[in-house]
Amino acid sequence: MTLKEKIAFCSGRDFWHTKECRELQLPSVMLSDGPNGLRKQGEKTDIIGMNRSEKATCFPGASLLACSFSTDTAFEYGRLLGEEARAMEVDAVLGPGINIKRNPLCGRNFEYLSEDPQLAGKMAAAYVRGMQSTGTGSCLKHFACNSQEYFRMTSDSLVDERALREIYLRAFEIAVKEAKPQLIMGAYNLINGVYCCSDKKLMDDILRKEWGFEGAVVTDWAAVADRAESFEAGCDLIMPGGNAWQEDRIKGRVSEERIEASFNAVADFARKHSEKREKSSFSEEEHHEAVRGICEDCAVLLSNKGGILPLKNLEDTCFIGYMAQDIRYQGAGSSMINPSRLDQITGLYPGVPYAPGCSRNGDTSPEMLKEAVELAAKHRNVIAFVGLPDTYESEGFDRDNMRLPQGQLKLIDELLKVNENVIVLLFSGSAVELDFADEVKAVLYMGLPGQAGARAAMNLVLGKAVPSGRLAETWPMKYEDCVSSAYYGSRCGMKDAQYRESIYVGYRYYDKAQVPVRYQFGWGLSYTSFSYSDLWVSEDGKTATVAVRNTGDYPGKEAVLLYVCPPEEQLFRPKRELKAFEKVFLEPGEEKKVTLRIDDSAYSTWNGGWKVYSGKYTVQVGELEKSVDIEGEEYSPMDVPEWYLHPAGAPTEQDFIGIYGALPEKAAGAPFTINSTLADMKESSILLRIAYNVYELISARKNGRGSAVYRGTMSIANECPIRAIQNNLLIKGKFDEIIVRMVNRKKQPA
Ligand code: BGC
Repeated sequence: MTLKEKIAFCSGRDFWHTKECRELQLPSVMLSDGPNGLRKQGEKTDIIGMNRSEKATCFPGASLLACSFSTDTAFEYGRLLGEEARAMEVDAVLGPGINIKRNPLCGRNFEYLSEDPQLAGKMAAAYVRGMQSTGTGSCLKHFACNSQEYFRMTSDSLVDERALREIYLRAFEIAVKEAKPQLIMGAYNLINGVYCCSDKKLMDDILRKEWGFEGAVVTDWAAVADRAESFEAGCDLIMPGGNAWQEDRIKGRVSEERIEASFNAVADFARKHSEKREKSSFSEEEHHEAVRGICEDCAVLLSNKGGILPLKNLEDTCFIGYMAQDIRYQGAGSSMINPSRLDQITGLYPGVPYAPGCSRNGDTSPEMLKEAVELAAKHRNVIAFVGLPDTYESEGFDRDNMRLPQGQLKLIDELLKVNENVIVLLFSGSAVELDFADEVKAVLYMGLPGQAGARAAMNLVLGKAVPSGRLAETWPMKYEDCVSSAYYGSRCGMKDAQYRESIYVGYRYYDKAQVPVRYQFGWGLSYTSFSYSDLWVSEDGKTATVAVRNTGDYPGKEAVLLYVCPPEEQLFRPKRELKAFEKVFLEPGEEKKVTLRIDDSAYSTWNGGWKVYSGKYTVQVGELEKSVDIEGEEYSPMDVPEWYLHPAGAPTEQDFIGIYGALPEKAAGAPFTINSTLADMKESSILLRIAYNVYELISARKNGRGSAVYRGTMSIANECPIRAIQNNLLIKGKFDEIIVRMVNRKKQPA
């Protein structure tokens, strides 16, 4: 094959397929979104879920999956999804998404696992192993530091090396090393001034050479800024495809060796799918039931005053809240599934009196309130179904705030005036402010539970299943308590993301700065109770055992969490970090010895390389702790601004410069480049304004102006670089350069 043919083979055939290679008898491979079900599209394709896909099982969102703290559950989730992919003739699934939840407002948090890299990494590894055990390939995404939607395709994540290694790359490292995913997806954004898909340090030095990744690197859809640079970096496959003109730009700028390497990586990937697999089938009913079970394993009981839950039955109970008739079960964007079936609470229990109390988007009216309050006053118990409507969280934009809709808050207030037994069932893909938490009797967090979520929720309410989930992210009292709230995303007009807080993400910040939170990372109640005893830690600190006993009346599962606390004198470190977890099932009265493996990295920190510093470390499990002497290098204090030693409030830009170095200067306005967005150029070009408005009309007609898909598509269009518009719309020729030249010419002074 000629070099030109090899280059062409490294870009997609169409939106969802790689190219076939007749010379090597390699088939075209089909990829599909992910991560919480299959979004297999037919002829009409798109990245944000505008066009419907084939019916498939809609699994609970990843942010809920992580709450199971169970790698067995994650394995099963991946396996079922892999099986479904086989039946639907999809070769590889674009998931799991394992970006770290840096800030609660990130619009895609519902697709991500956790604020903690150990949990995200281990759960992702199990998901990938499960999926790949079926022969379906898995694709980790989005590599890396893609923790905001605001200007997601051109935003620069400015992050210090320590945070990069310990927090943002760590989950990827665990999943790559433990599960060998077939693919990894390069993110849209830049890291420290370099587009991820052009970042040789990221893709080659770290991913391949350090971690031993043997799969293929695929770009996020239209993420490639410069094909020559991306070949050099080790980014193998560009999706959804390039065109001859863009490939021409490569000429003379890339070594043959790099092209050869990428060609081989894509060919190896295709080879894994070259044998025509027998088309398997799956039972829709069984998968529906299985995802119900998964959901029950994940839901988190946040509060349960006086043990009001479980209810013995639904006598003298009413349902209130629109989500009882129209459950919020999945997020919007590229992960949006066309569910094979969908349980609704009111459909499952038609005999239980019900009032919506608010509308689909969370507004209310005096009439709706009156109806709901009258019903609540007549019943002993009220189950209130509230949460974030889909216009609040989606791919493509970040949340405006951390609150539930005003109408729902008003509704809860009114219900509390007439009924003392208000039980809240909460549906959202990420943390929300819960000012009413102490006033209601119970809160059961259902995340975005997938298509069987309604039945799972009611099984938990009625004690047919016992809650065992724990929060995979901290829930602050209010958004402003979150360290990055002062400088995060659209609310602060920060297109580039300054990761000023460094390693102090999630509980690492709240613990160290002693900020009280609503619910801590790892929080979750059960209907039964557990006691811990006999913690033992091996001398080398690599193994711990603990006896766990079910001391209550229900059979139940307990997630056992192990933290390691570094020596106190090592100041620029979190107070403690999760380093291992295990989930066990226990009958009432039963005791089991749980073994937790603590891997080598548990005692190390990044300081120009991985370092283990000598000292007395503390291993904590529940209320128990044991200290362990670790031998290593002598700790030398790091020379950093005071904030990093004793964080309080938000770090300033000056503090950040103290650990990061000088911040890059960014030129704004003309001359524009192919990386400029419509938002940058619209004001300088009537043509672009017209194009944008036409697109707006199409999206409004198709999706409705009030919908999440509309909001997502419009912000993506506005914040999309011109070269990505070309790639996503599969436009041939020199479109991007022509547009840029045209707009620049207009800008030139006469
Ligand atoms: C998203 C990816 C997704 C891809 C294909 C992109 O916009 O960021 O997560 O897999 O589209 O739909």
